[in-house]
Amino acid sequence: MELFVTFCFAFPLVLLLLHLVHTARRRKLRLPPGNYGLPFIGETLQLISAYKTENPEPFMDERVGRFGPIFTTHVFGEATVFSADPEANRFILQNEGKLFESSYPSSISNLLGKHSLLLMKGSLHKRMHSLTMSFANSSIIKDHLLVDIDRLIRLNLDSWTGHVFLMDEAKKITFALTMKQLMSYDPCDWTESLRKEYLLVIEGFFTIPLPFFSTTYNTAIKGKVVEALRLVVRKRREESERGDRKNDMLGALLDEEGGGGGFSDEEIVDFLVALLVAGYETTSTIMTLAVKFLTENPLALGQLKEEQERIRAKKGELEALTWSDYKSMPFTQCVVNESLRVGNIIGGIFRRTTADVHLRGYVIPKGWKVFASFRAVHMNDDHFKDARTFNPWRWQGDGGVACPPPGVFTPFGGGQRLCPGYEIARVSISVFLHHLVTQFSWTPAEEDKLLFFPTTRTQKKYPIYVEKYSEMRHVKSKERIVKEEEEDGSKNFGVL
Ligand code: HEM
Ligand SMILES: *[C@@H]1O[C@H](CO)[C@@H](O)[C@H](O)[C@H]1NC(C)=O
Ligand SMILES: *[C@@H]1O[C@H](CO)[C@@H](O)[C@H](O)[C@H]1NC(C)=O
Repeated sequence: MELFVTFCFAFPLVLLLLHLVHTARRRKLRLPPGNYGLPFIGETLQLISAYKTENPEPFMDERVGRFGPIFTTHVFGEATVFSADPEANRFILQNEGKLFESSYPSSISNLLGKHSLLLMKGSLHKRMHSLTMSFANSSIIKDHLLVDIDRLIRLNLDSWTGHVFLMDEAKKITFALTMKQLMSYDPCDWTESLRKEYLLVIEGFFTIPLPFFSTTYNTAIKGKVVEALRLVVRKRREESERGDRKNDMLGALLDEEGGGGGFSDEEIVDFLVALLVAGYETTSTIMTLAVKFLTENPLALGQLKEEQERIRAKKGELEALTWSDYKSMPFTQCVVNESLRVGNIIGGIFRRTTADVHLRGYVIPKGWKVFASFRAVHMNDDHFKDARTFNPWRWQGDGGVACPPPGVFTPFGGGQRLCPGYEIARVSISVFLHHLVTQFSWTPAEEDKLLFFPTTRTQKKYPIYVEKYSEMRHVKSKERIVKEEEEDGSKNFGVL
């Protein structure tokens, strides 16, 4: 009897408890809130139209306002969790290979080729990532790469007169730097024709906004670039077998001692193409944007110029910048950081969950797409005071934190996929700014504005009128470079 009574009271109680526990679990095990938009296309069109304007922020702002910094949407054919939360972003970056893996749309992966670092996974990725990192680390830049970075930037600037499309020149510079760093080529007819082919590839790469488009056209063009590079690799492999080793990325890939070895030509070519792609648009766009932001902020430009003139004044006119010069440009570094922050070349990264992931009180099921938005954090007033204004002084502790907490400033990503080019990019941009402001004055030739889709860029390639400070300097440096070229004897392949 007693038992029965206990049971009668206890049973509903247990049921109630179970129910409570269950709903609590359900509430805990829930997806981030959000809106899926229209069937199939979801909110893709809203996303694209926002990013096609000068101010894409409302897309994120609206959703963060309604749902909080982690929300669900449906873009590019798939339900996707968006994060505008620095701690969540950091968690995503740090758990690469454990809970998340990189995930690129097929249009991009087809073009890159499966042996590119961006698409590698697991232990092969680890090995190749550290090989790339050590190829581009600060001591290598200091001892080997800097002198060429200085020389090639100067060579490009020497041809500037009158009307210049800054974005085009910045791209030529980045291409020249990458060709030198990867395979020791100086600019010549061969590299220029390769660049033209490459431009067609990259154009296709970035004008395919949706994953349903055919990529055969682009794959065909890519074929020419691949063919040209394959010949280079073949020739270098022969040289390397004869014991003739060059100190560049290709050398490292071919050479056991350089951490490489054992790769097929096809693997090496894919790898090189991906490096070319990863550094090209990104670095050249930041160069252009830094100049645009400075032009619009005469105070900042004045201070940067003063800093760079001071460095130049201590050196001969044609002397190359050294590592210690680079290390004595504190304000320029603030400008670089601020350009990276406001420019947001890589607005965020796509990942896919490889397990059910608990994130800030939500659960993201295995196999889901996740987008960690760097841009949303960089543009948030909670993390950067007056986040939407360009203010390089904030990096001196003035109007924001001098050193933001982890996950807050991530222009180069982080964790296992931290950009291996981050130091090269910073050095290249700094050296470019040095030569630009010490040799030229300029004015914008036209009003130009920023757009963010499919990539961050200015609408008109930032046309400017330039004027050189000293003609004398120009003539002298031309002579010097011609001499160096003769000594260098760049070879011509005539493949293209
Ligand atoms: C301003 C210039 C640059 C920016 C803003 C930038 C940004 C980034 C970001 C955010 C990532 C992480 C992608 C992810 O986690 O999925 C990345 C990866 C990468 N970057 Fe850069 N990058 C720049 C320049 C360069 C340069 C100059 C190179 C070449 C030397 C380069 C090579 C790479 C490679 C190979 C990866 C893939 C790393 C991996 O998946 O392990 N980047 N970059
Ligand atoms: C840079 O990489 C080289 C190998 O390429 C290595 O010997 C050196 O210790 C590395 N330097 C730094 C600062 O990591
Ligand atoms: C720029 O940002 C990096 C983080 O990417 C930071 O380590 C560095 O201190 C910043 N530079 C300045 C001048 O604040």
